[in-house]
Amino acid sequence: MSSGESDDDSLQLSAQTMGALLEFYKEQEERADKLRQIEEGDIPEFFEENWNMSQFWYSEETAKSLAEECLRAAGNHGSIACVSSPTLYRMLKKMDHNCSIKLLEYDTRFAVFKDDFILYDFKDPLGIPRELFENFDVIVADPPYLSEDCFTKTAATVKYLMKPNAKIIVCTGSVMEELAGRLLGVTKCRFKIEHVNSLSNPFLCYANYNLDHYKS
Ligand SMILES: C[S@@+](CC[C@H](N)C(=O)[O-])C[C@H]1O[C@@H](n2cnc3c(N)ncnc32)[C@H](O)[C@@H]1O
Repeated sequence: MSSGESDDDSLQLSAQTMGALLEFYKEQEERADKLRQIEEGDIPEFFEENWNMSQFWYSEETAKSLAEECLRAAGNHGSIACVSSPTLYRMLKKMDHNCSIKLLEYDTRFAVFKDDFILYDFKDPLGIPRELFENFDVIVADPPYLSEDCFTKTAATVKYLMKPNAKIIVCTGSVMEELAGRLLGVTKCRFKIEHVNSLSNPFLCYANYNLDHYKS
């Protein structure tokens, strides 16, 4: 112990070190668990919402209704990109169809979906595989944050992914309406988006085509 340092200080230090060590082992264990799940193709029934990642899952009914619309709009052997919308992806995965589907997500728990999972961070909007350029008939995006920066970057990803004339569906807060219209040519729909846990902000669905014609 150096002069001036009390017994209490050294105890405090070792408690902190112990805490950091435990945290490190916990993370290692979680990582090993994730890897095991991926290797074994063990897909959890339920993914808990992580509010630190701004995760608010759609209700079963909303996910089903959106998935049906995606399949209708994509057509036979179409392609659908679920951008930051894992509940929609999981619903599509359960349904009977011949479309190809990809999930672009930041939460690595969804890597259990193997080749369908594309690790994606909205902060790096074009940091996605080149083969996905202009590849999709339908893109659904539900950006994690209600900020201009997050929406603008997500919109750049959507444009990168879309085939010419692709259908775009965006689920986001009503404060994003003007920006969404300007960047992606989407307008407000009557179709209601509901969540398992209700949100405090008004939340809407936007599309670049008349989605309500098919959903009401
Ligand atoms: C508002 S939630 C939308 C989820 C959607 N309602 C659903 O049920 O599938 C936002 C999504 O963005 C994802 N996310 C969080 N941080 C992100 C990041 N940096 N880049 C891309 N996506 C992110 C979250 O994991 C979450 O799936």
